[in-house]
Amino acid sequence: MTTQTATTQSLPPGNFGLPFIGETIAFLRDKDFVNKRNEKYGSVFKTRLFGKPTIVFKGEKATQFILTNENKYFTSSWPRSIRILLGPLSLTIQTGHEHKQRRKLLAQAFKPRALSSYIETMEEITQKFLTSWEKQQYLSWYPQLRNYTFDIAFQLFVGLENGSQTQLRHLFETWSNGLFSIPISLPWTKFGRALNCRNKILNQLDQIIKERQNRSDPGNDALGTLMKAEDEEGNKLSVDELKDQILLLLFAGHETLTSGLTSFCMLMAQHPEILQKVREEQEQFSTSEPVTLESLKQMTYLEQILQEVLRLIPPVGGVFREVTEDCEFNGYFIPKGWNVLCQINQTHQEETVYPKPQTYNPERFNPEQPYNPGKTYNYIPFGGGMRECLGKEFARLEMKLFAAHLVRNYQWELVPNQDTELTTVPVPRPRDGLKVKFEKIR
Ligand code: HEM
Repeated sequence: MTTQTATTQSLPPGNFGLPFIGETIAFLRDKDFVNKRNEKYGSVFKTRLFGKPTIVFKGEKATQFILTNENKYFTSSWPRSIRILLGPLSLTIQTGHEHKQRRKLLAQAFKPRALSSYIETMEEITQKFLTSWEKQQYLSWYPQLRNYTFDIAFQLFVGLENGSQTQLRHLFETWSNGLFSIPISLPWTKFGRALNCRNKILNQLDQIIKERQNRSDPGNDALGTLMKAEDEEGNKLSVDELKDQILLLLFAGHETLTSGLTSFCMLMAQHPEILQKVREEQEQFSTSEPVTLESLKQMTYLEQILQEVLRLIPPVGGVFREVTEDCEFNGYFIPKGWNVLCQINQTHQEETVYPKPQTYNPERFNPEQPYNPGKTYNYIPFGGGMRECLGKEFARLEMKLFAAHLVRNYQWELVPNQDTELTTVPVPRPRDGLKVKFEKIR
């Protein structure tokens, strides 16, 4: 048997679809794309996505194999449209030693001391939005939550107040609409418009950075922290890199969180008995004292609730990697040059780990249960390994703080006759934007 034959025989089953684009369109449009193929081929299958042959995996073992073998067999890989729009100096694009070094540097903006210093601003912005929703009474919550996470990200990362009311809001929207598009840059294509917006956003960031350079201290928000940070050799980030890294943080710091918060609001409206239980937990905490990282840690039931939100509806459905060395998993050959896709959402649906996986059940994460999936590769809303989400603790803080304030003082119900079915690109959210009636608890 020649090597070629042996190789061909041990590739996973599956279908490449059309030349070049393969099955990309079905992948982006059909939310059951993976399910259908898992039923037909099993838990590992091959296809062609974004122009590349791709092997799609799910489950604890496969996920662990892929996420912990970064730089040995795998490296970061994103579709060309995303690579160009995020920029070459963005952490998600950087690889190897450079990635490791930069990650350390960026992590300074998310250390516990930095997180603690963000709480007061987060609380102020949360109160402002809650009061405005109370006045509106009827609202489409997803776009409002997007403004909320946008304002927090802009204020805490670059010191800009009310970001959602500025031109940046529109620029960001057009920019992020181009992330999953065909990378043809013409004035009327999605990608062309997004690229134009990237340049305008970078111009604004440039002005903000120049203004900071003229101060004796660039400040203690994420930008200020990154401007002061030095790597092991004493080098600082260049202005071009600062712009790409801040753009990434602004993006990563609001789209995923908006999805997570919207899912939380929807699931609580659909499970009033669980909402009641989390309200009872909140009664143990004083409302007159400021929230701290320590008090948030004590909200253990709220923690379970949020863990289960991110299990059932993970904001990031999966992560791509490029194969840099031929390797093998579970008897399947994984060729160099191909992509692998590690399915987060399907891993979270594993029936042997999560009985009745479609049911929302926070008891799965009860710390008194003998087996806690939250500590294994069966639970990967934030990815894992060397590329685990850098903003994980920031995201957990914002979600918990928001949820605590919301459930203590407010009630909401879903407006009838709306479509709460999820659309998934770029992040999961209810089709009709989650329409609710919103009131203060009297
Ligand atoms: C619920 C909210 C969030 C979820 C579910 C989430 C999920 C993820 C996932 C799955 C990855 C791994 C991507 C990969 O392996 O290729 C990731 C990476 C990343 N996330 Fe998050 N994220 C969230 C919030 C945030 C926030 C708030 C920030 C910043 C403030 C952030 C910044 C980043 C960055 C910079 C990376 C790239 C890390 C690297 O390549 O080393 N994320 N996130």
